[in-house]
Amino acid sequence: MKARDKIPLELLLVALPATFQDVLEAINANHLGVVFFVDADRRLIGIFTDGDARRALLEGATLGDTITRDTEYVNKSPHYLPLGAKISDIWKLLEQGVRCIPLLDSDGRVTDFSTRDRIRQFMVLEPDIGEQEISNVLECVTSGWISSQGRFIGKFEEAFATYLGGGHTIAVANGTVALQLGLTALGIGAGDEVIVPDFTFGASINAIIHSGATPVLADVDKDNWTIDLAEMQRLLTPRTKAIMPVHIYGQPAHIDEIKAFADSNGLFIIEDCAEALGATYKNRRVGLDGDCGCFSFFANKSITTGEGGMVVFKDAEVAKRARVLRDHGMSPKKRYWHEYAGFNFRMTNMQAAIGVAQMDRIDELLDRKKMIFQTYDKLLSGVDSLSLLPSNDWSENACWLYTVILKGHAEGSRDTLIANLGYRGIDARPGFYPMHEMEPYREYGHGAYPVASYLSANSISLPSSFGLANEDIPHIIEIFLDELSAIAPNAALAGTSEQ
Ligand SMILES: Cc1ncc(COP(=O)(O)O)c(C=O)c1O
Repeated sequence: MKARDKIPLELLLVALPATFQDVLEAINANHLGVVFFVDADRRLIGIFTDGDARRALLEGATLGDTITRDTEYVNKSPHYLPLGAKISDIWKLLEQGVRCIPLLDSDGRVTDFSTRDRIRQFMVLEPDIGEQEISNVLECVTSGWISSQGRFIGKFEEAFATYLGGGHTIAVANGTVALQLGLTALGIGAGDEVIVPDFTFGASINAIIHSGATPVLADVDKDNWTIDLAEMQRLLTPRTKAIMPVHIYGQPAHIDEIKAFADSNGLFIIEDCAEALGATYKNRRVGLDGDCGCFSFFANKSITTGEGGMVVFKDAEVAKRARVLRDHGMSPKKRYWHEYAGFNFRMTNMQAAIGVAQMDRIDELLDRKKMIFQTYDKLLSGVDSLSLLPSNDWSENACWLYTVILKGHAEGSRDTLIANLGYRGIDARPGFYPMHEMEPYREYGHGAYPVASYLSANSISLPSSFGLANEDIPHIIEIFLDELSAIAPNAALAGTSEQ
């Protein structure tokens, strides 16, 4: 089946003034038979259809004519709806025969569009920024406390430690440097090996490489998607210094077993919790079991600071060293005196200002995600050709990004499915690529990684933003199942065996 490409909004917009020829070319290029006329700020002026073009030609328009907001045949009172309009309201207009509806933000700018094929855009993950976040940032900007000093940094670190239930928290510029700082503060570097799963985001591996140590890629557990315990034994060498379990897609790794293995072999544990804020392992929040836990607050994470990260150390002395390393390695007692060749990994007060406001409502944010995941699970649990996120009685997923595995479909059809979902406004994502397959990481592979390759090739993540309304998820599922049956008719209906 051929993939249909996503129609970018840009193909629908024509800024006035424009020539009649430009307008016809735009109508031709987007295949929708319509364009939205906008001003230089993307504010809607009018709508123009292929029917309007025919009428204009019959009335004597020529290709070189300039169309402005005053041109007679521009429809200046078009139908439109606000961004975030209910699906039912969009359908009402479509059923009245409106072919393409512009969706406007609160400033009247065209930000999205609706057609029968594509009700609107559902982004895979969007941040939830509230009034308090805005007023905290304004306080930083107006008071001048915009770099890494100011009242919000300490407050954010404290609130985070309180939420986790302990640990020595250090706020940093992003989740990648959180990992790097964790490794360096623990004394891991050149000549050391760190065992890390092959199925992760590249930042886990990059942080190890930039600390000077060598990543050693391990396959993952098919039932839990996290590091395979047998792989740790296979890959252990006299140079192994640490294990970096990744709680991928918010799924807690087998921490007790990893700890037992690390203890008996004298290894450190650096937990990559970038995707796992709020996840629990045996009723405790992840991040406190290893020697350090590292979190990301990138804009797609469950709480955000734009870019940002946090390292949580178990040991107070290591945390003290990490604080110095974060700040160029400068002595806290003697300014400009360097104890180490350190880093500038500091978080800004503005980032922390957003973080403090997000922490104030973290339970509400995570509860919302949990509800979204429960709705997906309920609606997809009977579909034989899908495996849902792992579930067990010893851990709770963080509910970050709803991800499923497609079973029994032809190779490559997952990517066709993603393209077709994009055409219909559903922003879906493939799983992370196996690290060993990519050029910069190939040398860190040792043997085969069948499970990482399988999960990577067959996983697909669906929209999981806080802002999804209750009626949105059944709509997304309806389109998802429709497109799934189009790429794998037998698998979607009858179900097939895995792999
Ligand atoms: C598993 C994993 N590790 C590390 C990171 C790095 O975080 P950041 O993007 O904040 O540097 C990310 C996130 O994006 C991630 O998904």
